[in-house]
Amino acid sequence: MLNRKDLLGIRDLSKEEIMMILERAEGMKSIVLGNAPKRNDLNGETMITLFYENSTRTRMAFTAAGKYMGANVLDLGVATSSVKKGETLVDTGITLDRMGTEFMVLRHSMSGAPHLLAKNVKASVINAGDGANEHPTQALLDFYTIYEKKGGFKNLKVTIIGDIAHSRVARSNVFGLTKLGAKVTLAGPGTLTAKSMEALGCTVTTDLKEAVKDADIVMALRIQLERQKGGLFPNLREYSQIYGIDEEIFKYAKEDAILMHPAPVNRGIELMPELIDSGVSVIDEQVTNGVAVRMAILELLREGRA
Ligand code: CP
Repeated sequence: MLNRKDLLGIRDLSKEEIMMILERAEGMKSIVLGNAPKRNDLNGETMITLFYENSTRTRMAFTAAGKYMGANVLDLGVATSSVKKGETLVDTGITLDRMGTEFMVLRHSMSGAPHLLAKNVKASVINAGDGANEHPTQALLDFYTIYEKKGGFKNLKVTIIGDIAHSRVARSNVFGLTKLGAKVTLAGPGTLTAKSMEALGCTVTTDLKEAVKDADIVMALRIQLERQKGGLFPNLREYSQIYGIDEEIFKYAKEDAILMHPAPVNRGIELMPELIDSGVSVIDEQVTNGVAVRMAILELLREGRA
């Protein structure tokens, strides 16, 4: 069990807690694939998704995970809720808490929003992405995918490429992968990378070939146009010419390297279509693993509460 009420970030998790989640997810995957019966561990428990930002994968994966575990799954529907009348996040959370809610899954544009909610509600709060801070469940599904494909993390070279500065996925991955013993390299244009991230134990470079050379894992990130004030790179075509990952660049990685991306992908910008649809890509498997990992998290948090 996870001996904590909430799951707010990878930064707070120990290596042992991360491995516990990955090992539990292993048992859940056959349920997602339809090879084992659905569970009823969360029978009578309610999970509410609160997405103040758009999502397909994370919201649907939590919805599926909750249903596969037997929970009542509700969605706040932020756009048509009293949030639009000005109700605060805390007041919204307290209101939902009073309806008998065991889990709240929150995505918000403000870094720290899940932490604020968690302090004010009895329900377990799970961070589904907060601003540019963390996206812990995405990172956990990434770790699970790497663990499944490579059997461990020690000394693996994991190269993360793209909009590092705006990426909660990159931050959560760096926090976790360095704890797990991988060597992390971050690459992108100087305006989208932060040299200061080297303090977290990774390498930061603007040289794409150097970054991809001998990598075991190449993880591309989405260019997050919605988070940029503009002016950070001349245009998308230029970005794609210099930092877009195609088959030529991928050849610098190890022969058995895999390609990852949290998705949604800007096809033809950060990743070229021929690579996305090739055998090196595990992007679709990441989606399936995302449901298994979220089932594991729900179960482990529930066990901690019991
Ligand atoms: N990877 C990810 O968080 O995707 P969504 O925005 O679709 O949830």
